[in-house]
Amino acid sequence: MAMVCLSDFEDYAKKYLPKIAWDFFSAGADDCITRDENILAYKRFRLRPRILRDVSVMDIRTKLLGTEISFPVGIAPTGFHQLAWPDGEKSTARAAKAMKTCYIASTYSTCTLEDISAAAPGSLQWFQLYIHRNRVVSQQLVQRAEALGFQGLVLTADLPYTGKRRDDVRNGFHLPPHMKLKNLEEAFEVCKMSLLDPSVTWNDIYWLRSLTHLPIIIKGILTKEDAELAVRHGVQGIIVSNHGGRQLDGVPATIDALVEVVEAVQGRVEVYLDGGIRKGSDVLKALALGAKCVFIGRPALWGLAYKGEEGLRGVLRILQDEFRLSMALAGCASVSEIGRHLVQFSKL
Ligand code: FNR
Repeated sequence: MAMVCLSDFEDYAKKYLPKIAWDFFSAGADDCITRDENILAYKRFRLRPRILRDVSVMDIRTKLLGTEISFPVGIAPTGFHQLAWPDGEKSTARAAKAMKTCYIASTYSTCTLEDISAAAPGSLQWFQLYIHRNRVVSQQLVQRAEALGFQGLVLTADLPYTGKRRDDVRNGFHLPPHMKLKNLEEAFEVCKMSLLDPSVTWNDIYWLRSLTHLPIIIKGILTKEDAELAVRHGVQGIIVSNHGGRQLDGVPATIDALVEVVEAVQGRVEVYLDGGIRKGSDVLKALALGAKCVFIGRPALWGLAYKGEEGLRGVLRILQDEFRLSMALAGCASVSEIGRHLVQFSKL
């Protein structure tokens, strides 16, 4: 089967993954309004290409907090990669390294941070943290990640409780017995009820700051008010995210929320986006509206489900080629030429 675009990988994953895994990966909260809106919203932005500009030599590289990546698409944190491929997060790490981009490893990984790090030495990896009721557990995770050479700490802040995903409830979603949350095995013993601490507040950013020298990136911001608070609390980056529509259903698409966040931040910290990125022109629109880089969640899982590392490399390669082509057709030879002038809002 020739894989031409990301939805080819989606079709494959839907056909071949066990239903419980497919349902878990694709789930959105409640009516899935936000999950679907994340994709639909891109269609409301039209591109305003410039012509007769020399696009014979293209430079699609960018930098994430000073570190160069080959193009402005990284891998968002998602849990349980062994549900998609036996090698799990190790394959993800290898694919990200091969494509010279950033991989954000989830707290809910099915491989240890040590294995993820060893699978792709020298690559750009960030660690995503959920803060636990037992703060010692979180502290140890952060310090382990830093010692292993992870270069950023992503705090996911939109999950005080898990959103209601109907298919997971119906399926009684659980990991198969041979799969473990490898970084939390002890933690499960320590806090049997729930691992997540719903009492986390902005003050905990100071606590995190005291634990680590890593840059802190906060994930899950959708408003200018919270963007301002994030800057004031000294974070280095913001990921505009609604968790792929898996948390509060009815919040805006991330591409719509991006505009007010970018306006509020005024360049003081880097702003990234995830949610609904399915083709190169989506990446172009997000960058035009002010994102420094975007991250993919589900498409990475589809790539893994197709052929592990090779499959995910395929997904990234397609996005990279499509992004380069979209840029060239829009008249931009380098990422620095992408700007607000490239998009217009259309009522559809
Ligand atoms: C997620 N997401 C997520 N986020 C996070 O911070 N930690 C996590 O462990 C997970 N786990 C997770 C599992 C699955 C199956 C999905 C689909 C998503 C959210 C993820 O980082 C990202 O915000 C969205 O996936 C982006 O939307 P797209 O690219 O899936 O449309």
